[in-house]
Amino acid sequence: MAVFLLRLFSCVLGALVVSAIVHASAPSATTTAATSTLTGIAATAPTIGPSQQVGRLPALGWNSWNAYGCNINETKVVDAANLFVSLGLADAGYEYVNIDDCWSLQTRNASTGRIVPDPSKFPNGISGVADQVHALGLKLGIYSDAGTNTCSGFPGSLGNEAVDAEAFAEWGVDYLKYDNCNVPGNWTDTSTPPDNDWYNSNSAIRYRQMTAALNQTGQPVHFNLCIWGNANVWEWGARVGHSWRMTGDVSASWSSISSIIAANAQHLDAVDFFSHNDMDMMEIGNGGLTLQEQRTHFAAWAFLKSPILLGTDLNNLNATQLDIITNAELLAFHQDPDVGTPATPFTATASAPTTSPPEFYAGNSSKGTHVFIINTGTMAAKTFEFANVPGLGSGNFTVHDMWAGEDLGTFADSFSITVNTHDTAALLIDRA
Ligand code: GLA
Repeated sequence: MAVFLLRLFSCVLGALVVSAIVHASAPSATTTAATSTLTGIAATAPTIGPSQQVGRLPALGWNSWNAYGCNINETKVVDAANLFVSLGLADAGYEYVNIDDCWSLQTRNASTGRIVPDPSKFPNGISGVADQVHALGLKLGIYSDAGTNTCSGFPGSLGNEAVDAEAFAEWGVDYLKYDNCNVPGNWTDTSTPPDNDWYNSNSAIRYRQMTAALNQTGQPVHFNLCIWGNANVWEWGARVGHSWRMTGDVSASWSSISSIIAANAQHLDAVDFFSHNDMDMMEIGNGGLTLQEQRTHFAAWAFLKSPILLGTDLNNLNATQLDIITNAELLAFHQDPDVGTPATPFTATASAPTTSPPEFYAGNSSKGTHVFIINTGTMAAKTFEFANVPGLGSGNFTVHDMWAGEDLGTFADSFSITVNTHDTAALLIDRA
């Protein structure tokens, strides 16, 4: 728990309320046709955009990979869904229960061409799991790959997009994570695409083919591009899917968490409604992170509006971890219905050092202006000037601690707070 030391400059009374800056734009469902300069596969590749019926806000849910790897089955997935309800996660907004790699047999059905759920792991098929998950008011996610095989060697969907999208729709799948392993040589990118437009890269077109196939089924599916930040995905991801992985695989270590935040902080212009940089799945509950690092893991994913997919056996979460992942004020920022943009880095004071990742972020929600402070070093007082926070100006401000749900007081000119090693302070600021 962070120790908060407050520097009070003066107290004033006032009734000015900072108005929320409302950002309500959304990308259109279809993109313009390819230009006449395009040749080869790019000239004829589908340009249909992702469904606008889902994916407006960053996904909240769970995924099997970080918890179980390939060792998955119906019991574990349905157990996670039941725990969403019994632990209060569903009430907090967690919705997607996602099956990752290793759910199928190695070989497609010879007559239908479909991928076959492994009957020893999923005796009732994927539709049997979907039924149970849906009965709890939740949604089911599945995993495939924009290559010949998944990363763990099971059938991928490249060249089989239509048959696979049709099967997923029939089974009641609501979310598709689409990975990037085992890409045939002719589908990789060996040079910059025409006009430097990575939307027309071979990588993007592999994903565009699945967008079109999903669209064809008529069933809205949240489409996640697991492309690890390749092919400048942040430039075109929203024209193809709802969220896209920005980096390689997360692990339960501070170096992994902090490097993912640093990489993502460079591409926050891409984030808005229907458009989310995916910082990968959560490691809270898997050891390897201090309590403060777990708070930063959750807070940063929330204020940068990444999907938040829990990645542990939910039975193992203790009360403190549950408090972190159900923090109502951080979840409200993440799921804000009126503001789609994330918090972005700002210069806190003239003498603030440059760090990687940046330490100070500011952003807006329906409630007002927020500042988030990640301590990348050891415990220290962190100071910012109100005038340096975009949209605030100078004067007197009230400061509210979003973790504790407590008002901290009224302050003039600047605010200082002691933040523990690798912890994150989360603040709501109003003009006093
Ligand atoms: C890749 C993805 C991971 C996970 C595994 C499954 O590494 O990036 O998130 O899905 O494949 O094999």
